[in-house]
Amino acid sequence: MANDKVQIFDTTLRDGEQVPGCKLSTKEKLIIAERLDILGVDVIEAGFPVSSPGDFNSVQEIAKLVKNASVCGLTRAVKKDIEVAAQALQHAKHPRIHTGIGTSDSHIKYKFNSSPDKIIERAIGAVSYAKSFVNDIEFYAEDAGRTDNEFLAKVLEAVIKAGATVLNIPDTTGYCLPDEYGAKMKYLKENVKGIDNVILSCHCHNDLGLATSNSIAGVINGARQIECTINGIGERAGNTALEEVVMILNQRQDLNLTTGVNTKLLYDTSIMVREKMGMPVQPNKAIVGANAFAHSSGIHQDGVIKNRETYEIMNPLDVGVNESAIVLTARSGRAALAYRSKKIGYELTKEQLDVAYTNFLTVADIQKEVHDQDIHEIMKKINLTAASIA
Ligand code: KIV
Ligand code: ZN
Repeated sequence: MANDKVQIFDTTLRDGEQVPGCKLSTKEKLIIAERLDILGVDVIEAGFPVSSPGDFNSVQEIAKLVKNASVCGLTRAVKKDIEVAAQALQHAKHPRIHTGIGTSDSHIKYKFNSSPDKIIERAIGAVSYAKSFVNDIEFYAEDAGRTDNEFLAKVLEAVIKAGATVLNIPDTTGYCLPDEYGAKMKYLKENVKGIDNVILSCHCHNDLGLATSNSIAGVINGARQIECTINGIGERAGNTALEEVVMILNQRQDLNLTTGVNTKLLYDTSIMVREKMGMPVQPNKAIVGANAFAHSSGIHQDGVIKNRETYEIMNPLDVGVNESAIVLTARSGRAALAYRSKKIGYELTKEQLDVAYTNFLTVADIQKEVHDQDIHEIMKKINLTAASIA
């Protein structure tokens, strides 16, 4: 069966950049946008043009620069926002306006002090108005995760009629469980007239650590776009991490889903974003963390040295990491010490390895990690040099 393509909508420069401390200059945004285009994402959400003159300028420059991806600008369901976004996107090869409104009871009551019928009216108005500027209109039903499915279906049916081409179902507060989010997509697929002519999109936040799982549940149930950010940066606990969903679809061929992302650029892109935003990534972060391909326990190291696949489900080269790392600690065994020693020039006999290993454990118990320089010291102490290879 041919794989179905899932569009990757990157919002690093909008949902990601709005995080305190992640602010970027226009120049930095242009460098990242160019990289995202090369990476192969389908849509780049470049910003929220009405929010500031600086953001307007960034969206405008990104729109001029990007060659392949659609360039998208966020708006509220407000005429002025839509006009400004349309102006900022004027030079984009493939412009998209992303407009919408809150649809949950809490948003309708507390944010808008409004009624369900009035929300539908505003949603239709925003989509129709945006459609007078560009053809590609994405509608977001903010807080869709906590919106009643029947009402959500009603809103979506109305905006499809008004011209929406993509329907974004944000779990704005990161509240949904994967089976709930998946069931929501299934319900919409089965109950919204015209749904087969538009793309359903997942936009998940990570408040309960479920953003990636929810996005995958979404595409399993019919969504064909995932909104995500590099390194999962975004409001509060962040957004779905691009590198995670791309590698899940890449590794789990049984899902019959694919993306257009060049996975070999994932690691470098992650480094670029953390450096430009000054936002480090936790070492145990999936795919791009410093320890994602590092093995430190003796049992795992022994397995990986014999055959990488014993403890790795991905080839590090596939995400742009040069090789798996064997980290030497007090939990490492003889196999790891012999492997590392050989790499730096010491091919040890069994007897030499026994002596070296005893010395190694003494050092490892004092230090968190044993480095190549420490191994050289150990070898010197037991009268071995790289030249006196066994
Ligand atoms: O999380 C959210 O609901 C959003 C929308 C503005 C798309 O970011
Ligand atoms: Zn969001």
